[in-house]
Amino acid sequence: MSDPRPRAIASLPELRAAIAALRRAGKRIGFVPTMGALHEGHLSLVRASKAECAATAVSIYVNPRQFGPNEDFSKYPRTLEADLELLAGCGADLVFTPQDADVYPPGFASWVEVGAVAEPLEGQFRPGHFRGVATVVLKLFNLVQPDAAYFGRKDYQQAAVIRRMVADLHVPVEIRVCPTVREPDGLAMSSRNRYLSPSARQRALVLWKSLERAGEMVAEGERDAEKILREMRRIILAAEDARIDYVAIVDPDTLQPVETVQKSALAILAVKIENTRLIDNRMLGESGE
Ligand code: PAJ
Repeated sequence: MSDPRPRAIASLPELRAAIAALRRAGKRIGFVPTMGALHEGHLSLVRASKAECAATAVSIYVNPRQFGPNEDFSKYPRTLEADLELLAGCGADLVFTPQDADVYPPGFASWVEVGAVAEPLEGQFRPGHFRGVATVVLKLFNLVQPDAAYFGRKDYQQAAVIRRMVADLHVPVEIRVCPTVREPDGLAMSSRNRYLSPSARQRALVLWKSLERAGEMVAEGERDAEKILREMRRIILAAEDARIDYVAIVDPDTLQPVETVQKSALAILAVKIENTRLIDNRMLGESGE
């Protein structure tokens, strides 16, 4: 038996009242922002919040302003009923499902622009993406007023952007970043995996294989980033329709490329398989996963 369905709240006044009630009761509020089409990766964040907070709020909102003009906004999976069932199963207390017109009121004209850490990698290939993400996440923080918010390591650069924004703008929220949840064969869970045909789903394994191989090479003593990258590209391009946006080995804090793997480095990539764009990453070296 799963718990009763959590309350799904769409209106801002209703949300404010619900949050005020939790605050009056002195409850620590944990928050998990999502775009829905929920899977175990999202649910692991809900559980992490439940472990630390008396109340857990989840938002489901496919934010139009973080998608580029040729991206998948209109076909992004929307599975609200199934999402609410899953959230009931892991005990979320409140689900916020706002409307576009409330998130972006008429005349909306204020954006959050995060600097250096948002510029490379995803920033190069999805111009404007992180500005959309940072803006909507700050809005959601202001609406939900959480004590802590939970993000996945899977979107490593996104978490770095949010941390930077929170530090720079004195946002009173603790940011927690939780491990990437994978399918048994290693593929990182993603709402976009459901776009993949069965054969593309198999080919998509080259992302994780290349990251694993990079980890192995470093464990065996290889320190030359270019050599590791060459091997990673070879593994990825063995999938006939793979198109690499980027494969990089970077400093985990600045996200700038490194030539030599010192104590720790991050291998990070974005690859299209069958036109579905997938991202993944893995720490290399001492702090390896
Ligand atoms: P979405 O892609 O739905 O992801 C919501 C959260 O789940 C993010 O913090 C993401 O990193 C985390 N997540 C996704 N797959 C995961 C996995 N396999 N393991 C662990 N965590 C995983 O990221 C967004 O939505 C949006 O950009 C958002 C932050 C909601 C702003 O619109």
